Amino acid sequence: MDPADFYSGIVVDAYAGLKASRFDAEPYIEFVRTHGEPALEVGCGDGEPLLDLCAAGLDADGVDSSLDMVLRCRENAVARGVAPRVVHQRVEDLAIGRRYASIYLAGPTFTLLPDDETAARALRAIRTHLTDDGAALVPLWVPGPTPTDDLGVTRASVDRAGVELRYTPLTETYDRERRTRTTSCRYERVAGGETEVADREWVIHWHAPGAFRSMCDVAGLEVVHMVDDDTGGPPTDASVGFTVLVRRAAPTSGG
Ligand SMILES: C[S@@+](CC[C@H](N)C(=O)[O-])C[C@H]1O[C@@H](n2cnc3c(N)ncnc32)[C@H](O)[C@@H]1O
Repeated sequence: MDPADFYSGIVVDAYAGLKASRFDAEPYIEFVRTHGEPALEVGCGDGEPLLDLCAAGLDADGVDSSLDMVLRCRENAVARGVAPRVVHQRVEDLAIGRRYASIYLAGPTFTLLPDDETAARALRAIRTHLTDDGAALVPLWVPGPTPTDDLGVTRASVDRAGVELRYTPLTETYDRERRTRTTSCRYERVAGGETEVADREWVIHWHAPGAFRSMCDVAGLEVVHMVDDDTGGPPTDASVGFTVLVRRAAPTSGG
């Protein structure tokens, strides 16, 4: 299965049911209030935090590669009484026909892009969709290997309808050279005595701060700042999470 289709089928239910915490929408609301509207949330999933931004009165659209997530997001939007435009596209192929003063990813969704080539295409597409003075916010994550003790251990939750959702990481390949962690995992949905199973490969492809800056340069994006999520200072090669703010780079005199 293509990594862009990971969040489909029962994984959509499992993701909603097993999410560790709700997104705090406030940092994204503040980002959009600072940099302007309209806004685009890339990888909006089932609408967190996109729908909170809409409920706060902001003009925000969403885009996601999973049709199941897009449909769920539209349903959730109706239930919340908001009406964002939610587009089914991959960020690396983005062609929305609208430019945005603010583009953001809520959490490290960018690391779901499985290789440098896809990541570079995504950055170019983000650049194309930014207004001339717009800004994009890209949170990044450098994962360690999943602790061996966690492999084979199931996390489960039961939803309001009594449906049990389970997630079990089974095996993992951690490739430092390719900066890729691939976890084979099993999702299960147990309802009415029947168990539905989906086996997936969860691929995380990470970027070191310096390499990400170079990738932005090549994509025509200027890094305004990079902040380590833990220290609040500049990220280093030891950073586990850092957030990057970019803008369109000024055209060079040679064109
Ligand atoms: C970790 S989820 C976060 C979703 C959302 N913030 C939420 O909690 O509801 C990441 C989302 O990114 C989407 N995604 C993955 N690869 C993508 C791609 N290439 N282009 C656009 N969206 C992508 C997935 O389908 C998924 O909905």
